[in-house]
Amino acid sequence: MPPTRIAAPAPGSSVSSSTTASSGCDASVLLNTTGSGEPTELKGPPNLTLRGFEVIDAAKAALEEACPGVVSCADVLAFAGRDATFFLTNRTAAYFPMPAGRYDGRVSFSNETTLNLPSPFAGLEQLNKSFHAKGLSLEDMVTLSGAHSVGRSSCSSFHDRLSPNSSDMDPDFASSLEKQCSSSDPTAMQDFKTPDDLDRQYYQNAVDHKVLFTSDAALMASNETAKMVLDNAHVSGLWEKKFAAAMVKMGGVGVKTSADGEIRKKCWIINKV
Ligand code: HEM
Repeated sequence: MPPTRIAAPAPGSSVSSSTTASSGCDASVLLNTTGSGEPTELKGPPNLTLRGFEVIDAAKAALEEACPGVVSCADVLAFAGRDATFFLTNRTAAYFPMPAGRYDGRVSFSNETTLNLPSPFAGLEQLNKSFHAKGLSLEDMVTLSGAHSVGRSSCSSFHDRLSPNSSDMDPDFASSLEKQCSSSDPTAMQDFKTPDDLDRQYYQNAVDHKVLFTSDAALMASNETAKMVLDNAHVSGLWEKKFAAAMVKMGGVGVKTSADGEIRKKCWIINKV
């Protein structure tokens, strides 16, 4: 069955009015160049450790071979998020329908990344502001943070929580991270317990003070968000359901249409006019 088409945000709606051209779900992050001479989002500090571009390029190449000019890079990214969720949850979470029909952006600016992307050093209020600016709620923020139950992080993203600084991190956990961070591979698994499963373990880690970032620990900083964390940790199936819905909602942020976007031929470069 083909995916449903995404509803383009109405002009002036909270989503379209609160996002800038290069900061929505428009694959602007994949561009190496836009021909303007300006560094693209890829060169923005929060994006320097992004990886996996070869997967997106391979999917796009196969699509262009089969049906040229039909599926945008923004849709490829959104479908990759859907499929990664399916496989990383051991195929147990529902295979949620991710709407299609996004167009690709034609601009991308590195200096918009720090303005638009939340920092790992942010507290609860700042995180809430960042998500709210994209039309996403406090609960969406808590729910989507659960993606930090897979993957790795550079130590530079959580050095503020390790010695000689003080933090609420579990001391034994902090010591093991400090050891890892002084090794030849200064990166750590985001979820020390089940690093390769997208699961609710992240929330138990938050309760146990065994998460990496200030922004992860911040989820326990208010009664409202701490209750969400505890519910996600303890109620079987709850987080998986909320995560699927929040992924679809995030996939609708700042979506472009044929009026302000295009369907790129290759994901790293805009089409020639
Ligand atoms: C709450 C705000 C968020 C902040 C502050 C944040 C920050 C970060 C940082 C700093 C890293 C590590 C980068 C590095 O040093 O290598 C990271 C990794 C990661 N984040 Fe987030 N993130 C947030 C939300 C999200 C969301 C909404 C998702 C997806 C739904 C997500 C998925 C991931 C994944 C999968 C990784 C691992 C990447 C890898 O293994 O290469 N994050 N995040």
